[in-house]
Amino acid sequence: MTGTDSHDLAALRPRLPSPLQEVADARFERRGVRLLLKRDDLIHPDLVGNKWRKLAPNLATAAGRTVVTFGGAYSNHLRATAAAGRLLGLSTVGVVRGEELAGRPLNPSLARCAADGMRLRFVDRATYRRKAEPEVLASLLRAADAEDAVVVPEGGSNPAAVRGCRALGEELGGIADVVALACGTGGTLAGLAAGLPEGRRALGVPVLKGGFLGDDIRRLQERAFGGPRGDWSLDDRFHCGGYARTTPGLESFADDFEHRHGLPVERVYVAKALHALVTLVQEGAFPRGTTVAAVVTGRPFPDRAAPEAPPGGLSDRSRRRPCGGRERPDRS
Ligand SMILES: Cc1ncc(COP(=O)(O)O)c(C=O)c1O
Repeated sequence: MTGTDSHDLAALRPRLPSPLQEVADARFERRGVRLLLKRDDLIHPDLVGNKWRKLAPNLATAAGRTVVTFGGAYSNHLRATAAAGRLLGLSTVGVVRGEELAGRPLNPSLARCAADGMRLRFVDRATYRRKAEPEVLASLLRAADAEDAVVVPEGGSNPAAVRGCRALGEELGGIADVVALACGTGGTLAGLAAGLPEGRRALGVPVLKGGFLGDDIRRLQERAFGGPRGDWSLDDRFHCGGYARTTPGLESFADDFEHRHGLPVERVYVAKALHALVTLVQEGAFPRGTTVAAVVTGRPFPDRAAPEAPPGGLSDRSRRRPCGGRERPDRS
């Protein structure tokens, strides 16, 4: 064991509750809406954002056993699990979607996983889709020589993780009326909504196309809490074509947000949530006097600082419509 004891997550010194930052944004001010950024990206340099909240309860029970988990070639979750393995002295295995990747040089995300000691196992897409079936899982674990491993699902969203995300709602409790965040599996939203007090609501922005997430979130809450919890809804208009899809407009929107607020904006999830919020405020979706919090669930990879605002302001490119919502001229 090279790291700290796997039970001793506190030794990793997470910054909890995560900082809450009020930002001045003319698009919100004009509508009488207060904007807060819930900086979960600052919880821990390696277990960033919702990764800490979801992984910590799983790692606490690993008790020295190997942790096996799943993800795509650029998975934030795989990187966080690998980093946790290094920090806690746990052995980790990442089952990666796409057999064809096996013979190629590792991309920077997978190279980071490998450098953190994660053993990578590349599997074909058909097998990957069936990874939750008991016999498929058993054979994957056997092949990885990890039969007594703790298995954490893709995206880390098991009941322990969902319960771990309840603290996010509790931290925001009496402060924000509406809490917005990007959703992949929906596990973070399922937990967040359960932690919010009466009268406060969560707004999820799915980054995948398909409209299936509502059922998934209900199932996650059923497994984690035994039934539905909290007030939440989804707005399906902001996926920009699907997972990891982007548009020049979304890129410009994210660049513009970085310049305005000095926040490095992660593009796969966080940019879509922020874009949804700005669009909704411009549509008049929030009554005057509302406080909205946007959860910064991650950080760009590789890590980089937010750029300074260019002299003379932003070009017209930043005013292109990203995707979803009604188009509005923005002169702020
Ligand atoms: C940066 C970031 N934000 C949001 C999410 C979505 O989380 P969830 O899968 O719990 O919906 C993820 C994926 O885990 C992520 O990496």
